[in-house]
Amino acid sequence: MTKLSVNINKVATIRNARGGNIPNVCRVALDCELFGADGITVHPRPDERHIRYADVWELKPLLRTEFNIEGNPTPEFIKLVKDIKPHQVTLVPDAHDAITSNAGWNVRKNFDFLKAIVSDFQEIGIRVSIFIDTDLENIELAAKTGTDRIELYTEPYAELFPMNREKAIEPFIEAAKLARQLGLGVNAGHDLSLENLSYFHTLIPWVDEVSIGHALISDALYLGLNETIKQYKNQLI
Ligand code: PXP
Repeated sequence: MTKLSVNINKVATIRNARGGNIPNVCRVALDCELFGADGITVHPRPDERHIRYADVWELKPLLRTEFNIEGNPTPEFIKLVKDIKPHQVTLVPDAHDAITSNAGWNVRKNFDFLKAIVSDFQEIGIRVSIFIDTDLENIELAAKTGTDRIELYTEPYAELFPMNREKAIEPFIEAAKLARQLGLGVNAGHDLSLENLSYFHTLIPWVDEVSIGHALISDALYLGLNETIKQYKNQLI
């Protein structure tokens, strides 16, 4: 079964636009769970322009499903994750000023760094996932860091999908097959949507979890959160 983790950063972005507490990020997270989400993802960035560190603390005791914290492992981020102890941490190499994550790790270049952080988190019982593109050598090296999972960066799939879905999915099938052979769990995320999710899932049904924010929250403007989550879950059957 492929789980749906809802990334609620966009909800915090709307709240932050006015400085008050509307919409209430915790309430939305709990409603996502109620409506069928299998997990909640947050991505606290150093400037806290979306989810704030304080939100992560507030969410922790409330959530009943899987909590995934993703982000660039700066010393502050590492401390936060170790203090919170979520089910999963996803390591993402996003630059300070990036609008959103726009690349996976170059594992060769960061091998020692990643290996050390992976075992650090695992020692205290946190599952680790490394955000990565479909480069096969990179995936082999990721396995050698000892990580539990990789998260495939699906933006290139989403971009090519409307033009040529067979070509778009090809490198993802190869990458996910290799990851499975290497004993890695596979997550996927970025620009997945009601248009492209079902095809992705049909061809790579062994993906453990998809993490979806932007399209899902945007769809909720038209469909409502409850119906939106149900429709995304239906793509994963
Ligand atoms: N996975 C990672 C590592 C991300 O950084 C993001 C965006 O914050 C997502 C998944 C979700 O991407 P989207 O918002 O495009 O669904």
